[in-house]
Order: sequence, then C-alpha cells, then structure tokens
Amino acid sequence: MSTRQPRIALIATGGTVAGTAGSSTQQLGYRAGALGVEALLTSVSGLATLAEVIPEQLFAIDSAAMELSHWQTLAGRLAVLLAREDIDGAVVLHGTDTLEETAYFLHLTQSSNKPVVLTGAMRPATALGADGPMNIYHAISAAAHPACHGLGTLVIFGDVLLGARGLQKRDSVPGAFSADQYGRLGLVKDRDVFIYQRPTRERGGFAVPDRWPRVTMLTAFVDLSPRLIEAAAADADGLVFAGVGNGNLREDWCAALAAAAARGVRIVRASRVSNGTTVRNGEIDDDAYGFISADNLTPLQARILLLLGLARGDKPQQLQTLFDRY
Ligand code: SIN
Repeated sequence: MSTRQPRIALIATGGTVAGTAGSSTQQLGYRAGALGVEALLTSVSGLATLAEVIPEQLFAIDSAAMELSHWQTLAGRLAVLLAREDIDGAVVLHGTDTLEETAYFLHLTQSSNKPVVLTGAMRPATALGADGPMNIYHAISAAAHPACHGLGTLVIFGDVLLGARGLQKRDSVPGAFSADQYGRLGLVKDRDVFIYQRPTRERGGFAVPDRWPRVTMLTAFVDLSPRLIEAAAADADGLVFAGVGNGNLREDWCAALAAAAARGVRIVRASRVSNGTTVRNGEIDDDAYGFISADNLTPLQARILLLLGLARGDKPQQLQTLFDRY
C-alpha cells in the first residue's frame, strides 16, 4: 500500500472566494475572482501536512458568467486529472451564485469514484473573518479522505458536507448552502471527515455534450400569462416549468405547456416550492399531456438533467426514467 501523501488537484474558477475589496470590512461591491489561486493558497495554513496540492487557474470569473462552454472545459479537465493514478481527488473553487448548477452538472458527468469537492466563500478573501480559507482547507480534507470516495460530487461550506443533488444556495451569509430534506451527508472538522448518510440516487454516466439542446425554465406566479409560456417554448427543445404546490398548473398554463409538448418540446413539471416535489400523474395527468415529472429535483437541477438527457437523444419515456433514477 502506498504511504505517500494524498495528491489533490485544485481548480480555481473565480468567485468571491478569490474576491478582493478595498478594505477588510467591505463585503459588497468587491471584485470576484481577482486573486490568483497561488496567492489564495498562501492564506490556507497547514496544507503541507494535509495533502500535496496541485493548483490550477482554469477561469477567473464571477460565477454568474459561467456558460456551457466553461462547463465543457471544466468537466474535460477534471476527467483528465481524475484519470491520473497519482491524483487522489479534486477540489473546485467556484462562485456561490451558480454553484448548485455546476455541482449537479459535474455529479452527472463525472463517473470517477475519486472525490470531487466544490467550495467557495460568501466573504471576499480580503474580509475580516473570510470564510474561504477554512472552506478550502475542509474541501481538501474531504477530497483526500477515503470516506468521501464514491459519493459523487460533494460541496462543503461551514463544516457541512452536502451532496450535489438537492443542493441550494439559501442564504447570503457564510454557510449559505443547504440540501434540506435530503440531509447533510456529513461534517468536516479540521482533517477529519464524518459521513452520516450516503446518496442513493444514480450519478455519473452522462457524456459532456458537443452540441447543447436549448433548455429553458419558467416559474409560475400569480397572473402569469400563458403567452409567456408560449414565448419561452417557441425556440426551446425543452422547458422546465416550476408549478405551484405539487407542480400544479392553472388550466391555461397547462394548455400552453401541452401545446408545446405536442410540438415536441419536452416539458418537465417541477415545483416552485423550495423543498417541493411533483408526483407523476398525481394531480396533473402527465400521461395525457405528455409531461415529464421532476420528482423532487429543484427546477434549476431538473434543467441540467433535461439538458443532458436531450443531448443524448433520450425520448420522453427515457427522460422520465432519468428523473425517476437520478
Ligand atoms: C460568484 O458567484 O462568483 C460571486 C458570488 C459568490 O461567490 O459568493
């Protein structure tokens, strides 16, 4: 058995974790992604005894600017690094604003059992009490820990280890993420990792598409005009609609969505309730309207599963199976 230190690839993409502001008390109006990964690592003490870290600056962006082409590059780079025998796991530093989308995308497209751990920060690197350094330390602890193998893409914020599925940014303070009813997978304390539950849904196995289908998303609200649904569906291959309650639909919304489904637009019915779920044929006759039910995936994450399913040409029944299994 090898006795060498774990070797962890650390990919920086920008975000507040690498943000700099004019003063140590400034938490707003800072520049995200301003600090290079090497400079960032100097603020994380104790790394030398934890793992050998191989840093790489892939992007330096605010995560609102994340595009599908960035995902393609990131997923490709991760796959290459994780295939290396001398790399034991990977950490991705990412802005918090779209992290739940990137995390689930990687969860579906990375099939390695080696840990991929995403983290970031809510306070810029220059702030008093910056949360980034401890999050980075914990992410490397988790990526280097054997207990984190085979759990898919993980996320760590404020000592809490979360799975990618069901993850949501819920707050604007440190520890902003939760995966409520899906539970925390564990805790990281210094270099120790405690796992309390394991995800049961499938992960990995999706190719990163060369060509992306057009998949959009709409949320129900009081007085929503069905014309907005028609406009959204007009040039889409797929549409996730976050309905009320159990993904319920007003009659005219349902008619607009059914018309789009009849034209071949794949309609996924999700719930706008933050811990909501949709039950197939529960209150809406999905069979009759040709809809796909998102189960308890958030609309944002349902959009990613639909994107990848459509990219490989899955038909409606196959798409429903994806939502039942992933
Ligand atoms: C970003 O998402 O890149 C900026 C905000 C953050 O990281 O908290």
